[in-house]
Amino acid sequence: MAPKVFLTGATGYIGGDGLFAIANAHPDWQFSALVRSQEKAAQVTSKYPKIRTVIGDLDSSDLIEHEVKNADIVFHFADCDHVAAAQAIAKGSQHHTPEHPLWIIHTSGTGILTVEDQRAGTYGIERPKQYNDWDGVSELVNLPADAFHRNVDVIILGAGQQNPSSVKVAVVCPPTIYGPGRGPGNTKSVQVYWLSAAVLKRKQGFLVGKGENVWHQVHVQDLSNVYLALGEAASEGGGKATWNDEGYYLAENGSFVWGDVQRAVAQAAFDKKLIASPGVESLDGDQTTDLHPAGIYAWGSNSRGNSLRARKLFGWSPQQPKLFDLIPEIVEVEAKALGLL
Ligand SMILES: NC(=O)c1ccc[n+]([C@@H]2O[C@H](COP(=O)([O-])OP(=O)(O)OC[C@H]3O[C@@H](n4cnc5c(N)ncnc54)[C@H](OP(=O)(O)O)[C@@H]3O)[C@@H](O)[C@H]2O)c1
Repeated sequence: MAPKVFLTGATGYIGGDGLFAIANAHPDWQFSALVRSQEKAAQVTSKYPKIRTVIGDLDSSDLIEHEVKNADIVFHFADCDHVAAAQAIAKGSQHHTPEHPLWIIHTSGTGILTVEDQRAGTYGIERPKQYNDWDGVSELVNLPADAFHRNVDVIILGAGQQNPSSVKVAVVCPPTIYGPGRGPGNTKSVQVYWLSAAVLKRKQGFLVGKGENVWHQVHVQDLSNVYLALGEAASEGGGKATWNDEGYYLAENGSFVWGDVQRAVAQAAFDKKLIASPGVESLDGDQTTDLHPAGIYAWGSNSRGNSLRARKLFGWSPQQPKLFDLIPEIVEVEAKALGLL
């Protein structure tokens, strides 16, 4: 029988692209999607006429609990910080039984790995700590309480821990995502897009501090293949994937130094004659926050998580272009949005 799949965030960047991958691979699956309005519902059904849309928001706890209760697989794409939605999903999951288990595929984010910089208030420096989701998986499912997104991770992971024979959880934890989404709503990401917009607005490139901090990257369309593989594993009763205590999946195609991205954005803007020089000046924390309230975190922290689990278990192999190849395209997207091109 085709699984019943409930998803949040179908009009978003990650969820829209994930839906594209999953619905195209499995047109027979029965999808329901939480959307905030009739307009959003129409956006989704214009591309996927068979999807049942459910109008509500992430605070519609009873509605979410009901949908989760009736689903086989839940993809929670919408918001990795929304406590009430996570609680409603956890509550809905507890209606399931070993005979009718629930598979929860949750989206977190590797902002969770920036905890050392958050605590120390540092930016622009390189930190050596690297995590991995293979032999380091227990560290990832037990990250400290003050790490970003951890409060929601705890609720979702807790649903599996409370009832492990009935609730199977996989957390997908993406780093810096880039590349065009294929969804019905938002098709662009945040960090490098915000950076490009900031450079274009101030008409000069910049580094956050020394620009030596490191993150990992993933193209959204490669990321969606992780969600697809997990959904397929769930539909097979678990498949080759691991769940709950070993159900944490980082997804990256390599690392990058933020200063290199900051220089490349300035160079791309200069090449397109949008700024007068490809040079970059170093900004301090306050200057960075003036450009974007989340700038220190988004461009100045370290988030180093190596993904082995999806590669080893189901042969995930990212194929899309690297971040640096797409920086001219990202600058162009932002220049058009600002009316500069
Ligand atoms: N982009 C990245 O690089 C990245 C990396 C790691 C983790 N994340 C995390 O992943 C999550 C999704 O990111 P995204 O880039 O896909 O964001 P996005 O493009 O803004 O999409 C968010 C989606 O969730 C829906 N949504 C948000 N708040 C809602 C609410 N209160 N009720 C119902 N629906 C709601 C939005 O619906 P509407 O269309 O109605 O707004 C949209 O469909 C975020 O928590 C983000 O922090 C993002």
